[in-house]
Amino acid sequence: MTELIRVSGLQVHFPIRSGLIDALARRPRGVIRAVDGVDLAIDEGQVLGLVGESGSGKTTIGRVIVKLTKQTAGRITFAGEDVSALWGPKQLRDYRRRVQLIFQDPYETLNPRQTIHDFVAEPLEVNGLAPRLADREAQVISALESAGLPADFAFRYPHELSGGQRQRVVIAGALVMGPQLVVADEPVSMLDVSIRTELLRLMLDLREERGLTYLFITHDLALAWVIADRIAVMYLGKIMEIGPAQTVISSPRNPYTQALVSVSPSPDPPDAGMRAKRTILKGETPDAAHIPTGCRFHPRCPVAFDRCQVEEPPLFDLGGGQSAACWLVEKDQLPVLDPAILPGLPAPSPGVTPEAAT
Ligand SMILES: Nc1ncnc2c1ncn2[C@@H]1O[C@H](COP(=O)(O)OP(=O)(O)OP(=O)(O)O)[C@@H](O)[C@H]1O
Ligand SMILES: [Mg+2]
Repeated sequence: MTELIRVSGLQVHFPIRSGLIDALARRPRGVIRAVDGVDLAIDEGQVLGLVGESGSGKTTIGRVIVKLTKQTAGRITFAGEDVSALWGPKQLRDYRRRVQLIFQDPYETLNPRQTIHDFVAEPLEVNGLAPRLADREAQVISALESAGLPADFAFRYPHELSGGQRQRVVIAGALVMGPQLVVADEPVSMLDVSIRTELLRLMLDLREERGLTYLFITHDLALAWVIADRIAVMYLGKIMEIGPAQTVISSPRNPYTQALVSVSPSPDPPDAGMRAKRTILKGETPDAAHIPTGCRFHPRCPVAFDRCQVEEPPLFDLGGGQSAACWLVEKDQLPVLDPAILPGLPAPSPGVTPEAAT
């Protein structure tokens, strides 16, 4: 498999400036370590699911990859080329065509006064990709059709569309540029559950038809399992575990992943005994401005010991493409998650089954 994108040693730190005086003095009050040393790679045609609680740094990684946020440190390689230092509209023209972002909220992305045609055609126009109107129209209609919308939607306005149709318009807006990589940030979380499956299927169909590669960002581990080939689990700016989707879900080897798996929604209400076995995370909710020493998860970890408070574990290679950051993994002493508490994750719908899960 050919690697399409790799980020190495990625750090994104935001200064905290609280008051006017701090701002004027350009004196930061501290720093938010939103992304704190992340390495990940995605092969062509693969879907990497990036999972983690709110504030773990998922969107920040997505924004760095699409070049909306500058990294503090680290390297980004795309199709074998170092793109870390590319900035400005001219330098990024080609990159912006090849790497597209789909946001969570189609209501915010679409301008209520703009027709669907004008929204989808805008990036073509801005980038001078189809100077003739007739060419632009043809490309817009082709993108709409690829996103499963009829051509006559081109002349409608956002308010005439349902939530699912609007998200298809947003997808068409990304497709019109002919991207290789799509960063999808919670693309279905605003949609009704009934429409989610359709959109996920569309995204996977597009991967087949166009050879698309996805970074799929979600806080929902079960959703990542349905759509992704590989899953990376983030906690406070770091990857705690990464591996094939099926392996990460069925034999998680980091206590944080285990906790996430154990609280993932199950279709049937668990009985009282099972509920008791679920890992309830203790401690304060994480804060990227105050990252604990040692293993950043240790204050909430049910199996932490002395070393975890002082030394940060690296990602240990477990074979089979799985790695986990935990000192107990190194010692091979991590308690295996009791299969009885594994959630009955929803069966993937036909056509939405990732290869890794079959
Ligand atoms: N521009 C910014 N300036 C300052 N802090 C920021 C900025 N963007 C993000 N952060 C902080 O960085 C951390 C990571 O934020 P990010 O949005 O990447 O998390 P996330 O995993 O996408 O969360 P969610 O699931 O809520 O979308 C948070 O603590 C957030 O408050
Ligand atoms: Mg986010």
